[in-house]
Amino acid sequence: MHRLESMSNPIQIAVVGTGYVGLVAAVCFVEMGHSVVCVDIDEAKIAALKSGHTLIHELHLPELLERYRNTRIRFTTNLAEAICASDAIFIAVGTPQSETGDADLSYVESVAREIASSLTTYKVIVEKSTVPVYTNEWIRRTIESNGIARSLFDVVSNPEFLREGTAVTDFLHPDRIVVGSDSEAAAALLERIYAPLTSGAYYDRPGAIPGRCTATSPPPLLLTSTKSAELIKHASNAFLALKISFINTVSNLCEATDANIEQVARGMGLDNRIGPRFLSPGIGYGGSCFPKDIAAFRYVAEQLGIDFNLLAEVEKINTEQKKRFLARVRSALGTLSGKRIAVLGLAFKGGTDDVRESPAIDLVELLLAEGCSIAAFDPAAMQRAQEEVPAGPQMQYVDDAYTAAANADALLVLTDWPQFAAIDLKLLHHAMKVPIVVDGRNLFDPKVMQQYGFTYISIGRPSVQHSRALELAASQTF
Ligand code: UGA
Repeated sequence: MHRLESMSNPIQIAVVGTGYVGLVAAVCFVEMGHSVVCVDIDEAKIAALKSGHTLIHELHLPELLERYRNTRIRFTTNLAEAICASDAIFIAVGTPQSETGDADLSYVESVAREIASSLTTYKVIVEKSTVPVYTNEWIRRTIESNGIARSLFDVVSNPEFLREGTAVTDFLHPDRIVVGSDSEAAAALLERIYAPLTSGAYYDRPGAIPGRCTATSPPPLLLTSTKSAELIKHASNAFLALKISFINTVSNLCEATDANIEQVARGMGLDNRIGPRFLSPGIGYGGSCFPKDIAAFRYVAEQLGIDFNLLAEVEKINTEQKKRFLARVRSALGTLSGKRIAVLGLAFKGGTDDVRESPAIDLVELLLAEGCSIAAFDPAAMQRAQEEVPAGPQMQYVDDAYTAAANADALLVLTDWPQFAAIDLKLLHHAMKVPIVVDGRNLFDPKVMQQYGFTYISIGRPSVQHSRALELAASQTF
């Protein structure tokens, strides 16, 4: 297809669910030239979006929403009307973890039923939420069982690989676009939707969101069966989580041998077969995706009689990594009870306000249970964190890193926000009662920390001790 043609071929799209995936996909489809109606049952959310509030902290999202709010993107609570007006309906509702570990598909099911009750002309229904293998078939059967002829619809799987914090860039500059379809007509519609990216036309456009794809190096679109597409999503997240648990275990080996994980990870990552990304050790993975998706994938394997105990190990290592970090804080301080701890970072990673399954929140809860008092700061997640751990006499939320550090017995770095790495170390040292920093994200150079007079403990790298810090910590212990 000619480049300009692929930019001027707008498609009417409905996106059901305005969470991270749905809202980002909707805004990006509009940016690609299509017209989108976003649907959500939450009236307050729709009202906020109509008035230009994105509700989530995501780079480029506010500016794109503002650009298109009164033109090619609409918001409604009326699903039937949205279905009527669209050629493709993307289902992007939540698939939370159920008590048994599998994905709870009740939101997907109720949307499928509603779609069934409104179908009068041919539509392509697109499964965008993260769902287990066979969900595509199950959506198809659900719609058929509501009396809809098979000729009136197709169901396609189009999994999303966006990361929170860089979701817009990830959407518009993907490594690959996966389309799982058992129908040629439906696959062709998805190819048209993504043509602005796959043809490279989008990247030539003035004002395009910058990223790694270019007009001469556009992303590939991989056509697969529906089941393969579903498995690609779960397998990708599981593999990334495995990479993190692997490097965390190697970092523990580094600590035991006085080796340096940065050197080891670099040496491993230079092997093209391994690659350098997702080899940063830390306090374990979190977020709304990895923990839930690994549990769901494990459940799927179990149901199919496939031994995938490797994933149970990945989860176990992830839980242990937090406990190990806590043990290192304890051993640095002698005892935890009664200590004042500064916490930098509450989100599950930098660049987001999301605290779902955040290892930082888990650690804050463990420290409070040990009798510590905490002063915490996060550049974006303060409000959401307070919904998880309310402020109180032992739990203070403060306005900046230096206030958090004031009079602290130790400072913990729990989220990899770039601004933490740029902290004025002299001011920080001055603020603290005992200059001990335990860094769960390896944001600082140990040598520099030593020069500034800190005792500095990080992940998988030799610790540096500063005698005054140790003396002070010891004097607080007894
Ligand atoms: C993840 C995947 O990276 C996306 O490809 C996927 O689309 C998304 O889940 C999803 O299924 O929706 P996300 O949860 O936003 O994206 O976050 P990541 O950037 O992958 O980080 C996940 C966790 O791993 C964070 O807690 C992060 O701090 C940790 N991590 C990541 C490490 O500890 N080390 C690393 O090297 C990388």
